[in-house]
Amino acid sequence: MSDCVAGRKELWAGYGTVLGNRAVSKYVRKMTIVAPEFAERVKPGQFVMLRLTEGSDPVLGRPFAVFDADPLSGNVDVVYAVVGKGTRRLAHLRVGDSLSLWGPLGNGWSVARREKLPKRLALVAGGVGHAPFYLLLKEILALPADQRPETTLLYGARTMARFSCITDFHTLGANVRLATEDGTFGTKGFVTDLLPEFFPEDAPSEESQILACGPQPMLRAVAKWSAQRNIECWTSLESPMACGMGICFSCVVDWKKDDGTWDYKRTCVDGPVFDAARLKWD
Ligand SMILES: Cc1cc2nc3c(=O)[nH]c(=O)nc-3n(C[C@H](O)[C@H](O)[C@H](O)COP(=O)(O)OP(=O)(O)OC[C@H]3O[C@@H](n4cnc5c(N)ncnc54)[C@H](O)[C@@H]3O)c2cc1C
Ligand code: FES
Repeated sequence: MSDCVAGRKELWAGYGTVLGNRAVSKYVRKMTIVAPEFAERVKPGQFVMLRLTEGSDPVLGRPFAVFDADPLSGNVDVVYAVVGKGTRRLAHLRVGDSLSLWGPLGNGWSVARREKLPKRLALVAGGVGHAPFYLLLKEILALPADQRPETTLLYGARTMARFSCITDFHTLGANVRLATEDGTFGTKGFVTDLLPEFFPEDAPSEESQILACGPQPMLRAVAKWSAQRNIECWTSLESPMACGMGICFSCVVDWKKDDGTWDYKRTCVDGPVFDAARLKWD
């Protein structure tokens, strides 16, 4: 166990114990890990690297948004889609198994909200992009009513079977609007089709904000729409990663400087949350 990673005291690395690992939809699972020293450090929008302790395949850890973290119980939840070797192996972990984790990593959503809270806030999610929003909504809903932005989770999927954790968001008391591309649940269409309704033309853009997480085409569409409407938009990227700690540069993205020229930023340490207006979308 260690309370300091790469000289950064806010990071923790060690072992957690699996408390639960169940399917929450046909494609997505939720894992609860007991890791109290990690749980007490997490801020909304940060992520964790998970690595299996048995064997060396895959050798690298895998990054996941922290869905929930409870400093009292010491439990940390991640919600993950099974897409390849690493997530398939995670899906086989059982209660009592141990796994290696390090973090919390990344800037989180506080970077988006540090100036002042907006009046209207849309959290736009596609696929498993809802994962970083649960902890954020928990924090927002705990604010006094007069400081709380009017917040709605706009959540889209290809089809109804692709949704997960909707009950968790409802239980939290969050406003949730759903869209499916095939019309099997919620509004028929893309999640971005819900934006004009949430931000009517007469809503002051300076009091509005969008936070988005999901597949790249969705993020591109949200970034484009928010730019047209002059609404501040922050996107959480899921760039493939190796180290998660700023060393390998496998997660770089193009980032626009104040003078309009381009630089690189590492998603793991400079993000994953970036001002959408600073990123290259084409
Ligand atoms: C900051 C961050 C937060 C994330 N949060 C979550 C989360 O909460 N839940 C979740 O399910 N996933 C999340 N991801 C994505 C997750 O890390 C990958 O799905 C996972 O690493 C895949 O590992 P694998 O070994 O199963 O797949 P691999 O065998 O490595 O790859 C399988 C397939 O998935 C593709 N793939 C792998 N990684 C990514 C990626 N990052 N983006 C797009 N395609 C990819 C590969 O190209 C390949 O086609 C996050 C990624 C980042 C960077
Ligand atoms: S994953 Fe290694 S620098 Fe970002």
